[in-house]
Amino acid sequence: MAPQPFLSNSAADIELIAQRLQQGGIFALPTETVYGLAADALNPLALEKIFKAKGRPHFDPLIIHISEIEQAENLALTNNTFYTLVQAFWPGPLTLILPKKPCVPDLATANRPTVALRMPAHTTFRRVLEACGRPLAAPSANTFGYVSPTTAQHAFNCLGDSIDGILDAGPCVHGIESTILDISDPSTPKLYRPGPISLQDLERALNTPILNQTTTPKPKEAAPQGLRAPGLLSKHYSPKTPIQLVELGRLKNVPTAPGTAHLYFQAPTELQHAPHVYSLSESGDLREAARLLYDQLRALDLQDYKQIIAEKAPGKELGLAINNRLKRAAKR
Ligand code: TXA
Ligand code: MG
Repeated sequence: MAPQPFLSNSAADIELIAQRLQQGGIFALPTETVYGLAADALNPLALEKIFKAKGRPHFDPLIIHISEIEQAENLALTNNTFYTLVQAFWPGPLTLILPKKPCVPDLATANRPTVALRMPAHTTFRRVLEACGRPLAAPSANTFGYVSPTTAQHAFNCLGDSIDGILDAGPCVHGIESTILDISDPSTPKLYRPGPISLQDLERALNTPILNQTTTPKPKEAAPQGLRAPGLLSKHYSPKTPIQLVELGRLKNVPTAPGTAHLYFQAPTELQHAPHVYSLSESGDLREAARLLYDQLRALDLQDYKQIIAEKAPGKELGLAINNRLKRAAKR
């Protein structure tokens, strides 16, 4: 009999998953941002399985998840900026890039001198980390380039048979991936990926300006090896249906072209129940919009639309992270 793909957060299932991870298995696990595909971060054979299952190119390094600060100190050269940010935001949706120590496999960092670390807040993920007693590398549990999974079913739809199992603990609360900040040179912190922790949150905590490097790199940087955050290719997080992105307020009507869906940030009340009209949040709430963004894109992808015209979110705080994902999803 084939193994049952879905596991629960019962003590028995957590123990089973932890043991199989210690033996080199790979499992989709919930975090507060998106579901991750986890493997023992110090076992190159297990890491190789992640790249294979996702179809992920080897130039794209992984985030290593930990449950204790001591683990970060074992894996990376920490600095004062790190401790300030940890105090303010860990555990939580913030990934920090630091110079790596030699024990980190080159496969995890794509041969870079730095390593990405995150201490997730999700209770279930933390229980697995503690039961396992070692750091876990975990990229989002989707096939490379596709929309990240925010439910166990999404992870199953993408990776189903090619992994050892999926722990279902319900939908993720944030719905978009962690903020990524490079503090390997603490004199100039650099934001690579906007996320649930905003640039303003980080600047307030550090009391210093942060270099925003979240836009699409210039052509001369375009070779993957030259990218600042190599996974942040201009096309990413993309459904199969083409998306056309328009400014906030530019979607005014119900769709007139056949096969077109309109995805509003918040559709006007009179259009909310019109056919082929969708909202990221009917109440105009940025948190809800972020939480439902990927679920909405996946749901639209399952219908027969030829195109989706999507409206940007208001361009502040979490809206910047939503628009960053929409922009990449729209890139052809
Ligand atoms: O919320 C999240 O961060 C989720 C959950 C599962 O924790 N994980 C996630 O992983 O989004 P992934 O692999 O889909 O995205 C990781 C990003 C990639 O764009 C990668 O290029 C970047 O982090 N990254 C990892 N290590 C890096 C490094 N040393 N330098 C620059 N970028 C790095
Ligand atoms: Mg990803």
